[in-house]
Amino acid sequence: MPITVQPLSDACGAEIKGVDLRQPIDEETKRQIECTFHEHVVVVFRDQDISEEEQIAFANTFGGLGERRRSPNGSTPGGSYETPFMFVTNIRDEKTGEPIGAFGDGEMWFHHDTSYYKEPHKATLLYSIRLPSWGGNTCFSNMYKAYENISDELKQKLDGRKVLQIHDYKRRERIDIYNSDISGMLQQEQPIFVTHPATGRKALYISRLMSARIEGLEPEENETILNHLFDISEDPSIVFEHEWELGDLVMWDNYASIHMRKDFPREEPRLMRRLTLGGYGPLS
Ligand SMILES: [Fe+2]
Repeated sequence: MPITVQPLSDACGAEIKGVDLRQPIDEETKRQIECTFHEHVVVVFRDQDISEEEQIAFANTFGGLGERRRSPNGSTPGGSYETPFMFVTNIRDEKTGEPIGAFGDGEMWFHHDTSYYKEPHKATLLYSIRLPSWGGNTCFSNMYKAYENISDELKQKLDGRKVLQIHDYKRRERIDIYNSDISGMLQQEQPIFVTHPATGRKALYISRLMSARIEGLEPEENETILNHLFDISEDPSIVFEHEWELGDLVMWDNYASIHMRKDFPREEPRLMRRLTLGGYGPLS
């Protein structure tokens, strides 16, 4: 099956045309999709009409699914743990009023998915099922380019250090690490620069939402450097903004990109079906 690749921005992102995700993917097509994914970091398939089983089958083409873990604070974000899916939605159960998924409303700051796990998942596959009339775009930032944009002096200072990644499902802003009890939150120290196991390229591994503290820095310097790195990581020249249409399946590289969601009207339903692919092991 010949595919065509249309780059979507100078930053990252490419649309792959000529693939029907309901059908099994042959070896040559799989190879082409993987090459495009590794080169462009984010790949977009439009006009897809896929069931849960078909989304799982497509994901399984590229490796095992990422395991969903329970939050230590006892909440069950994203719906039932009986399926590998997480539903990203603001829709609530009609009877109970409880959210049927996670990360429901509004803007969500830049982050990696699962950076707070020991072995972060290597990719996320998000499929659009219901969309609001405006907003809710997802922006992806190319973290290979972010790494390249750091001064040599700062690279040298930070090389080999770790950064604490924390996630609290209830939180919409960065945690104040010096004045908070973080014991009940998902957290993990990760290298601040990672080498992508598939491409061998180096990427910056921080995000404004989840990165809290760089190993070995005093609070003031920590905040100064992290804020500087957040600005580098969100520079518009390395960001691709995806405007969702119904039936889009977007797959992104969780080692080489961060993403954020723009605001959208709270009263309008938005429903996305999300899967992840398991990682290559601990980051290095
Ligand atoms: Fe996310």
